[in-house]
Amino acid sequence: MIIAKDIHKTYRQADNILRVVKGVSVEIADGEAVGIVGPSGAGKSTLLHILGGLDKPSQGEVNFFGDDLYTMADEARAALRNAHIGFVFQAYHLLPELTALENVILPAMIKNNSRKTSHIELEGVKLLEMVGLGSRLTHRPDQLSGGEQQRVAIARALVNRPQVVFCDEPTGNLDSASGILVMDILLNLNARDKQTLVIVTHEEKIAKRLGRVIHIRDGELETTPANAV
Ligand SMILES: Nc1ncnc2c1ncn2[C@@H]1O[C@H](COP(=O)(O)OP(=O)(O)OP(=O)(O)O)[C@@H](O)[C@H]1O
Ligand SMILES: [Mg+2]
Repeated sequence: MIIAKDIHKTYRQADNILRVVKGVSVEIADGEAVGIVGPSGAGKSTLLHILGGLDKPSQGEVNFFGDDLYTMADEARAALRNAHIGFVFQAYHLLPELTALENVILPAMIKNNSRKTSHIELEGVKLLEMVGLGSRLTHRPDQLSGGEQQRVAIARALVNRPQVVFCDEPTGNLDSASGILVMDILLNLNARDKQTLVIVTHEEKIAKRLGRVIHIRDGELETTPANAV
């Protein structure tokens, strides 16, 4: 499981100290599907990055299935992330010079000592077909629509069959049919493979499909009645 204890994130901007996350503790069990919901600027992306090993908290610790993420060496954390964590960024972060397929299989190649195999390529094609982009394999990001880039980013997050997938507004740029398709894919993996899912969303329809929703406001967890979204 993931255990985050008393997480703080503070930025210094000129003379100001900006406290973005203020003492958040959360536990996410293996196989759970959890939503993180809250207003813009509440600290959702910041918290997600911290939970996913991408951003060191100013204070607090994150234990990821027995490993303390922020006391290990940076290279060890990067390797753990590549093998066990899938991350879909709010702004996709695809590599502009690579095709859709090359972007998707990059984490698998890294895991395989930078070597491409036909197995890896086939897996990439299958994932792109799964998200409805079987006919866009060789498009570069600038030749794809926003929603298509988002789906490439989702395929990339899944290529190493990670233990946990973190998604920051994964349907933010999708029409409702594509949004439902993407959520069906993620929830199927959660149900079938017990892949843990942590999704930042502002869409109530999505939050309702998740097992549990964490509410965050001004960098702090809100306690709300059970079943409230
Ligand atoms: N690198 C940074 N330096 C200074 N302030 C930052 C930095 N990153 C984020 N912030 C501030 O932290 C706050 C929380 O940002 P965050 O991206 O976590 O919000 P969010 O809840 O994901 O919002 P949204 O729903 O709009 O994506 C914001 O007010 C933002 O301006
Ligand atoms: Mg955000």
